[in-house]
Amino acid sequence: MLMAAVCMALLGCLQAQELQGHVSVILLGATGDLARKYLWQGLFQLYLEEAGKSHSFRFHGTALTSTKQGQEVIAKVLESLSCPRDTAPGRCAELKAQFQQLSEYRRLKTPEDYLALSEDIEARVQREGLQEAGRIFYFSVPPFAYAEIARSINSSCRPGPGAWLRVVLEKPFGRDHRSAQQLATELGSFFQEEEMYRVDHYLGKQVVAQILPFRDQNRKALDGLWSRHRVERVEIVMKETVDAEGRTSFYEEYGVIGDVLQNHLTEILMLVAMELPLNISSSEAVLGHKLQAFRALRGLQRGSAVVGQYQAYRGQVRRELQKPDSFHSLTPTFAGILVHIDNLRWEGVPFILMSGKALDERVGYVRILFKDQAYCAQSEKRWVPAQSHCLPQQIIFYIGHGELGGPAVLVSRNLFRPSLPSAGWKEVEGQPGLRLFGRPLSDYYAYSPVREQDAYSILISHIFHRRKDSFITMDNLLASWVFWTPLLDSLAHEVPRLYPGGAENGHLLDFEFSGSHLSFSQPPLEQLVPGLDSAPMPSDFQVLRAKYRDSPLISAWPEELIARLAGDIEAAAVQAVRRFGQFHLALSGGSSPVALFQQLATGHYGFPWAHTHLWLVDERCVPLWDPESNFQGLQAHLLQHVRVPHYNVHPMPVRRRQRLCAEEDQGAQAYAEEISTLVTNGSFDLVLLGMGTDGHTASLFPQSPVGLDGKQLVVLTTSPSGPHRRMSLSLPAINRARKVAVLVMGRMKREIAMLVSRVGREPKKWPISGVLPDSGQLVWYMDYDAFLG
Ligand code: BG6
Repeated sequence: MLMAAVCMALLGCLQAQELQGHVSVILLGATGDLARKYLWQGLFQLYLEEAGKSHSFRFHGTALTSTKQGQEVIAKVLESLSCPRDTAPGRCAELKAQFQQLSEYRRLKTPEDYLALSEDIEARVQREGLQEAGRIFYFSVPPFAYAEIARSINSSCRPGPGAWLRVVLEKPFGRDHRSAQQLATELGSFFQEEEMYRVDHYLGKQVVAQILPFRDQNRKALDGLWSRHRVERVEIVMKETVDAEGRTSFYEEYGVIGDVLQNHLTEILMLVAMELPLNISSSEAVLGHKLQAFRALRGLQRGSAVVGQYQAYRGQVRRELQKPDSFHSLTPTFAGILVHIDNLRWEGVPFILMSGKALDERVGYVRILFKDQAYCAQSEKRWVPAQSHCLPQQIIFYIGHGELGGPAVLVSRNLFRPSLPSAGWKEVEGQPGLRLFGRPLSDYYAYSPVREQDAYSILISHIFHRRKDSFITMDNLLASWVFWTPLLDSLAHEVPRLYPGGAENGHLLDFEFSGSHLSFSQPPLEQLVPGLDSAPMPSDFQVLRAKYRDSPLISAWPEELIARLAGDIEAAAVQAVRRFGQFHLALSGGSSPVALFQQLATGHYGFPWAHTHLWLVDERCVPLWDPESNFQGLQAHLLQHVRVPHYNVHPMPVRRRQRLCAEEDQGAQAYAEEISTLVTNGSFDLVLLGMGTDGHTASLFPQSPVGLDGKQLVVLTTSPSGPHRRMSLSLPAINRARKVAVLVMGRMKREIAMLVSRVGREPKKWPISGVLPDSGQLVWYMDYDAFLG
């Protein structure tokens, strides 16, 4: 009776003795999101393709959920499965019924549950006179559960001798190199590498899987094209419109780099960049060449990346993870990365990797743009797409979605007519008006799969057929983490640029590169509109404008704050040069302005450096070449990168006659004279100050009467911390300035910032409180840590 039922359930009703064996598929986490969306459908597909051939199957959906609940969920999922497009409805219902009969739900929690499952499988196999071929365990569970499950399978649920075991693991495989290694070691103590199938579902995407075959089949045409001599740049992109809502506990740990770049985009990068093995069906050769390409990757620096976070993310994290309102997440939900490959083939070619949530469109592609080397003498209207070398030349592996709506391989007609396997690929039908990457679709040879298939269905079939080349080996995984971990470390404290999400992002996330450095093309938004459901909070604003001690306050995250201050200084410089022909800027030392100097050095091409005079606000009494000297900081982070005429640079004369800051050497008076000679009325165009945790500014310290009033422009002072002797602009000199900017950054400044906000003008106690330009403007620049704590 039972035998008959099984027989009925098999397509074609094969006799048991014809079968090569029985396969049990155990889907762990069978009620979860991934399983419901893709894996059950993939298993159904496997059943449709294989059951009529030589194996019998049984599908065990398992989870921690109670049997009743689990059964209900599974029943619904099985009901919603879909058949291939050309299946008649009646036939589809029949096939689904067969699959449902072979599928069950069971709770799998304790080692005893695993043992019971194993015994059930053995009993069934015996009862039905079958032979066990093997077991597939698909781990669709969070990685923290891996080790426990692996232990139970290994101890109680391995198939008997002669049958195989395959365990399928879903990313994330670690958060960095160390944790990936740890996980690999742990799993390695239960399973052989041969038994493990690490899924990167992008390797199952039809177009991604076509990259190597495409390169192989078009070797001749690509020979002269696939290298630095002809490739201008490569873009590997995965844009999403969805955000991370509902997944923030996962996302907080991995961010966009761990979620997408370290795996999907890196795998694609390798397929494009690796040397092509003679035999692309040899997984050893492919892996070997991949690892070689990994070794050639140039290490990523902090400046190789730009990161962003969509504005609603922080609120979602607070809600979902029950964090207080003061919680700020630094997790990037957007990243643009510039990769270089230091080998003969790719030296100097920029590879741009980009991915993000809450963007304006959903699309994935690899775009290889070739160098434009031609000049066309004929008028543009006579250019023929298939011949003109003046039209862009590109090859695009269009992974899916976007304007085209599905996967395709596109090759500019002026490059060559590619060869694709005629069995699985067809020419894309024209879509009038559709333009891709700046050209009408008709400019490309365009091919798409005859039958679109979901990546998971493809990979499940590969697991069944033991095609390990579509999976991530341990060496491959660790090589990828070796590459990404240093960047993740260097970004750990980086504040991502906030973006509103969707079409409103405008050009806010555009970025550009020069050398190995990547930066956003536009300054950050002044202000973002807060969510409709809440009153505006300070944290809703990218840059907050307010008042502090009755003067304008600009507050923002450090990156935006520095960008804003640099922009304001440049604007003041341009204006001063236009009006007076020169710009006198007095700069403080210390650590806060370093980022500002770097920003000015790299991002402000319009700065009139040739007409700028640089002065020091204060100096330590050490030789100018001493690393502790403020001048050294200026030299290292600004002067060596910009062209300021050397006679416009005015270090403080702390060392005269081989002595440091001796009163009798009159260094302070000499500097004051220099100021009076060169700066009209001794009035600097802009003075940049900081604020110490004790309320000092420049080198004017509390409880020290020097420099707080009187006529002297420059004074010698004593600092409570070493090096003690200082030279400083006096408070009157500072207050003569046209504009004073006070930059205050970091949590350590929070307390003094609060205190100074309440006190009156008491420079003896808090010298900073004496800063108020006589006729100029004072602006406070504080980051959120200093301002809001
Ligand atoms: C997954 C990521 O690996 O890929 C998700 O965890 C992402 O964050 C998804 O949304 C995208 O895959 P696809 O197939 O929809 O492009």
